[in-house]
Amino acid sequence: MHRSRTHFTPTKLHLISEEGRATPRVYTHLVPLPPLDVRPGRDPRYPAGPAFLPRILSGEAFRSTSADLMLSSARQHGDLVHYRAFGRHIYQLNHPDLIRDFMTTDSIHHHRNVVMQRARTVLGNGLLTSEEPLHMRQRRLAQPAFHRDRIAGYGIVISDAAARMTSAWQPGTTRDLHADMLELALRIVGKCLFDLDHLDNIEAVASAVDSFMSFLPLAFLPFSQTIQRLPVPSMRRLQRGKLHLDTLINRMIAERRAEPADAPDRGDLLSMLLAATDPEDTAAASNQMSDRQIHDECVTILLAGHETTANALSFALYLLAVHPEAQQQLHTEAIAVLGPTRNPSAADYPNLPFATQVFAEAMRLYPPVWVTARSCISSYQIAGYTIPVGAALLAPQFAVHRDERFFPDPDRFDPSRFTPERKAALPRYAYFPFAGGGRQCIAEGLAWMEGALTLATIARVWRLTLPPNAPAKLAINPAISLRPRHGLPLHLDLRAI
Ligand code: HEM
Repeated sequence: MHRSRTHFTPTKLHLISEEGRATPRVYTHLVPLPPLDVRPGRDPRYPAGPAFLPRILSGEAFRSTSADLMLSSARQHGDLVHYRAFGRHIYQLNHPDLIRDFMTTDSIHHHRNVVMQRARTVLGNGLLTSEEPLHMRQRRLAQPAFHRDRIAGYGIVISDAAARMTSAWQPGTTRDLHADMLELALRIVGKCLFDLDHLDNIEAVASAVDSFMSFLPLAFLPFSQTIQRLPVPSMRRLQRGKLHLDTLINRMIAERRAEPADAPDRGDLLSMLLAATDPEDTAAASNQMSDRQIHDECVTILLAGHETTANALSFALYLLAVHPEAQQQLHTEAIAVLGPTRNPSAADYPNLPFATQVFAEAMRLYPPVWVTARSCISSYQIAGYTIPVGAALLAPQFAVHRDERFFPDPDRFDPSRFTPERKAALPRYAYFPFAGGGRQCIAEGLAWMEGALTLATIARVWRLTLPPNAPAKLAINPAISLRPRHGLPLHLDLRAI
């Protein structure tokens, strides 16, 4: 997002701890960042933070979601917040410079968080769950599949899928657009990853992914491996879902392996993963991925690319429905660029800046990955405080994206925050829906294009409004990703074009 900077103003920050230790660091920013606001806690060994018991007793812990609690902690206790939960030290980082160190230089002190570690039982050792050095090798192998030239070919996939979805919509009706966005995102990732076209195949993948998704939260429970072995019907059904998905993916890998070497390139991600070689990998027996590794990467990409994008699109549609003026502006842009009937391609994406701004602002207010979490594996210091081994470190997109130091009137939907000029003035880690550093989302380019082309396809033809009796505030569910809690029922009307 924030690639080009034209001039820089160095700012000097002093990180001051309770005992008055000061660690000067020089950072370069286009505009000076507000100084770090790190406050001492009652116990001088830790920075300030909310006490667990009062929150329980006041009922706050039960009334709010975990995302709301992180937001209120940041607002009350400053840029580095400490609390304990379930016997663990937790450090919440709320300042762009702390987050930059967390994502980049300090990442050598981190492992995937407990949730991701447990998810290995279902996701295997794909990009999301693996540690270094495996992660770096896989990243080198998979990166070309997400190269800009490669994903340009997926523009048509996105707009075809969006056009097919909307052709089933009936004017004058209300339907759950979150369900539609989930199916759309799955179709797109299914086509981009496996070149899957046939409805049967898509439905088979959809139902396998569905069972798999309902299985996933279980994988995150402390005794998940024991629970998964329980001989109860729900467990059997969920295991069948996993087996089903594994079988489908393995069959596709085997079919591709069996194709002659001179078979035409299908242009999908799977063919890139199968062909990828790692020139730096001279020590390994093969510099290609094993079938097992490709399987794990496919499961990871299917799951990582499905719900995140669907949620971002759903929140964007909700925001458009409650901001008719923005919806009108997007409609005008879509008509000007595409005319009344032409489906967009990747070449249209740069000409849809307002669609991109709407998508960006939706991910500011409702970041699909609402917190990035890690476990500390070697003790180090943040702002003069020692982070113990085993501590959890959190960089909460949900809280930082609503920080009024960077986003005045932070709860207001305002896509103009992401015009090129205003975007360039934002500190890099004040806005990080795709994280950053070595773990930055590998498919960020694809996700931006998917967002803009889908929103333009919909807004060109349809007018979206909230149905009567819709609650004034959208309920959110900060689960594995941030979702609308009760789907997204929206009323549909055709525009006169
Ligand atoms: C709006 C949509 C999306 C958002 C907001 C998003 C966000 C993220 C974030 C924040 C991470 C880093 C997670 C962490 O460090 O713990 C990540 C990683 C990843 N994402 Fe996405 N993502 C999106 C779409 C996609 C799509 C469409 C795909 C695939 C087709 C994808 C594949 C991945 C993969 C494989 C990783 C792991 C990268 C690594 O660790 O090297 N994502 N994503």
